[in-house]
Amino acid sequence: MSCRPASPRPYVLLSCATSIDGYIDDASDQRLLLSNADDLDRVDAVRAGCDAILVGAATVRRDDPRLLVRSPVRRAERVADGRPASPVKVTLTARGDLDPTARFFTAGDSARLVYCASGALDKTRERVGELATVVDGGEPVDLGWVLADLATRGVRRLMVEGGGTVHAQFLTAGLADELHLVVAPFFVGDHRAPRFVGEGDFPWHPGRRARLAETRQIGDVVLLRYALSDRCRDG
Ligand SMILES: NC(=O)c1ccc[n+]([C@@H]2O[C@H](COP(=O)([O-])OP(=O)(O)OC[C@H]3O[C@@H](n4cnc5c(N)ncnc54)[C@H](OP(=O)(O)O)[C@@H]3O)[C@@H](O)[C@H]2O)c1
Repeated sequence: MSCRPASPRPYVLLSCATSIDGYIDDASDQRLLLSNADDLDRVDAVRAGCDAILVGAATVRRDDPRLLVRSPVRRAERVADGRPASPVKVTLTARGDLDPTARFFTAGDSARLVYCASGALDKTRERVGELATVVDGGEPVDLGWVLADLATRGVRRLMVEGGGTVHAQFLTAGLADELHLVVAPFFVGDHRAPRFVGEGDFPWHPGRRARLAETRQIGDVVLLRYALSDRCRDG
């Protein structure tokens, strides 16, 4: 870990889809589809507007996401702007149990960053060091430091796509500027399934309500856009 650089921290946009009862997945082996096609296209547009996308290592293991901009038009626009076709992919791990064949490492040609707890640095570099830049994030990995390090790598806008453990840390640390919460029209109703966030000291509570910046119906789902800092603009 180096000293904290002076660059402003990236703008942090959290993105999550839940069931009506607040679950972000079910307890089965299959990945649960919560969004619809139009909402996935909206998410693609948000991705295309970001410099980096971050997910926790459990999401890499469980969902095996590609984390690429899907639309050829958006990819071409990014390239025309002098940016890579898709944002930099970022993950966090304390244990280093990452599979080099995961699509995080194999899909597309975006740069990949793995912020790893110091204790798992050797193991992580051995596993995925040829496919990603493995950064010593300290012990434990501090998200404020990660954001500062991303800023030095040119990341001005970061999209955080989950899972719940990662979202909870950004929220409780007061490091989130905007939340896009999509509610799908069904219940999961299974306590074994993961929820959007667990327990924690969140800066927004009955005495300090978050500002709802927008609601948008997208087919059978609804997008709730919350402004979590003064950096978030309406519209
Ligand atoms: N509906 C949605 O929008 C959505 C989006 C994404 C994911 N999901 C779902 O979310 C579930 C996974 O969520 P989750 O909460 O279990 O896990 P997660 O947030 O995806 O990842 C947690 C893992 O990330 C690593 N990590 C997190 N914070 C860290 C820190 N500060 N320092 C070092 N490592 C850190 C650890 O990895 P190690 O274990 O490797 O140490 C930890 O176990 C899956 O079921 C997935 O399908 C849903």
